[in-house]
Amino acid sequence: MRIGVLASGSGSNLQSIIDSCISGYIPDSQVVLVLSNKQNAFALERAKSHNIEARFLNPPDGFLKFKRGMNIEDIMNDPLRRKYDQQIIDEFKKKEVDVVCLAGYLLFVTPKFLDEFPNAVINIHPAVLPSFKGQHGIRDAWEYGVKVIGCTTHFVDDKEDHGPIILQVSSVVLPHETSESLSKRNLKREHLIYPETLRLYQKGSLKVNGRKVEIKWDEAHFNFHQQLLELWRNDIDDYYNSRQQK
Ligand code: GRF
Repeated sequence: MRIGVLASGSGSNLQSIIDSCISGYIPDSQVVLVLSNKQNAFALERAKSHNIEARFLNPPDGFLKFKRGMNIEDIMNDPLRRKYDQQIIDEFKKKEVDVVCLAGYLLFVTPKFLDEFPNAVINIHPAVLPSFKGQHGIRDAWEYGVKVIGCTTHFVDDKEDHGPIILQVSSVVLPHETSESLSKRNLKREHLIYPETLRLYQKGSLKVNGRKVEIKWDEAHFNFHQQLLELWRNDIDDYYNSRQQK
């Protein structure tokens, strides 16, 4: 499977995908191209250090920037956005990309993009959707006072953080946590959930049926869930031990 990645930031999710391709956890797969709308995205460096082609694509001047409350359709219809996405489509098509992963990518993709890669654009979001959509999933959840945080992988559609959910995992919110500490713990889950999503995708174990994604569970998927349970247990043990030491 040939994976194309769009990233805007540090690229830790990209790293988990690269590592899982190298280890064979995602079978017969490789990241073939990483593109970013940010020149200084560390994701580009990560890719290059694995000899993966990686490039900054400069969004054109006048490009409509999304702000909370804005109509997403205006963004989707912005001719400059469409032109920009066409550039990305062309790059991915040249590389014969089978699946596109949004990994900390801060822009929406336009309908044309989705038409070019039907049921093959996947996103990760750092909250349990449909709660806390948008750019600050963790911070918004923490400010709201949730007692469980988590993350979601989903197929991308034309609405924000909305398409059919593939996997979701959760984690307890411990006393005295900050949005930063939660974000750090949540990332550990993200680095498991994205590779597992792609492993299932590569095996043809995901079937989209309207909003529902049916998953064919195999041995590795059971193991994945055991690993998540282990993380819950470890977090609670660590907190318990830290109290004993006081
Ligand atoms: C992650 O929480 C991701 O879910 C979000 O952006 C954060 C940065 O991830 N969309 P990364 O280190 O750039 O992969």
